[in-house]
Amino acid sequence: MVTLRVISAAMERRTWRPGVTTVTDVFGLSHKDTSPVSGQAKHEQVIFCSDERSGLHAIIAIYNTALGPSLGGTRFYPYESEQAALADVLNLSRAMAYKNALAGLDLGGGKAVIIGDPATDKSEALLRAYGRFVQSLGGRYFTACDVGTYSEDMDIVARESSYVTGRTVAQGGAGDSSILTAYGVFQGMRAAAEHVYGASTLRGRRIGVEGVGKVGHRLVDHLVEDGAEVVICDVSEQAVERVRSRHPQVEVVADQVELTAAGIDVYAPCALGGALDDDTVARLRAAIVCGGANNQLAHPGVEKELADRGILYAPDYVVNSGGVIQVADEIQGFNMERAKAKATQIYDTTLKIFRAAAEDGIPPAVAADRLAERRMSEVGRIRGIWLGH
Ligand SMILES: NC(=O)c1ccc[n+]([C@@H]2O[C@H](COP(=O)([O-])OP(=O)(O)OC[C@H]3O[C@@H](n4cnc5c(N)ncnc54)[C@H](O)[C@@H]3O)[C@@H](O)[C@H]2O)c1
Repeated sequence: MVTLRVISAAMERRTWRPGVTTVTDVFGLSHKDTSPVSGQAKHEQVIFCSDERSGLHAIIAIYNTALGPSLGGTRFYPYESEQAALADVLNLSRAMAYKNALAGLDLGGGKAVIIGDPATDKSEALLRAYGRFVQSLGGRYFTACDVGTYSEDMDIVARESSYVTGRTVAQGGAGDSSILTAYGVFQGMRAAAEHVYGASTLRGRRIGVEGVGKVGHRLVDHLVEDGAEVVICDVSEQAVERVRSRHPQVEVVADQVELTAAGIDVYAPCALGGALDDDTVARLRAAIVCGGANNQLAHPGVEKELADRGILYAPDYVVNSGGVIQVADEIQGFNMERAKAKATQIYDTTLKIFRAAAEDGIPPAVAADRLAERRMSEVGRIRGIWLGH
């Protein structure tokens, strides 16, 4: 409720354009009841977009543009309230700023949510209306796919806006971003192996992959090629079969509980968020956690529980940034070789984080946040140098 009050107050000062409400810097004010980011959220700009005829109700949040235009996907989701959508977009846009910073991109953090059921509410008119709002920001925000939106949708949004990535290959896009997401997770895992075992290979190690969907099954390919022993679980039989038909030697267990108790060296969560809760951490015997899923830590403090148990946690948003690296490359005209070279750097970044964490006696998740903040601050600051003209 506090948020809505803050927004209402800010709306007194708003600049009107039909269908667009732009609220600037309200989140620097107190909004402590808003979301898990309360007290930390200092978003540059939050834009409420509505077009009644097409049914569009969207919120675009720009966390910061310290490193460049903001980039983040559009989530199309049937939120139970505008408040829930706002909390989500504030969190997600902030997370994108950190992810983009550590991916070494010259991009800030942004994200958008469209409130509705993608199965029934998505239409050409709605997506094009949304595209016009993205365009109205003049390049401060680049959009892409997220939960509920696909490359084909981005092609439609792009009919109204030049600031769209994640498009289909036919339209010059990067295609399925899980290719470099999985590759990046593999690079992060090699860095973890280097840190723990002194060799950057998974050869002879036993890896448990939870979720073998788009990211997970590609990760299994990399691991098998590297000579690892792989154990998987997935709620989808079809997903399991796809892996087994390519790699019959892969072991299958019933669920995450069995997987984490299966004597694995590395646990790779590649399904949903929240995989690392208190019970899982207590059960885990692995030396390393490194996977593609977003938001793996179920609550703040889990990163410390892992560190206390001597388990090395590779921060999720660092190792799964191959996907954003892939779509960001589209901005300059997609080139897979260039994007892959950038995703290869996830190895160095992850190793740097582990070393900084060990030196400072802090969990890697905290070291990653600090490194991201430092880059945003140090590189962002140089824009204050006057260029003349
Ligand atoms: N696709 C990308 O480029 C990308 C980029 C960054 C992060 N991620 C994150 O990686 C994760 C996986 O994404 P994806 O694109 O592979 O999605 P996906 O839907 O293709 O795959 C997820 C898989 O997890 C399985 N699953 C769901 N619940 C499970 C459970 N309880 N136990 C075991 N398996 C379960 C599903 O059946 C599915 O096969 C997500 O958290 C996503 O946010 C994906």
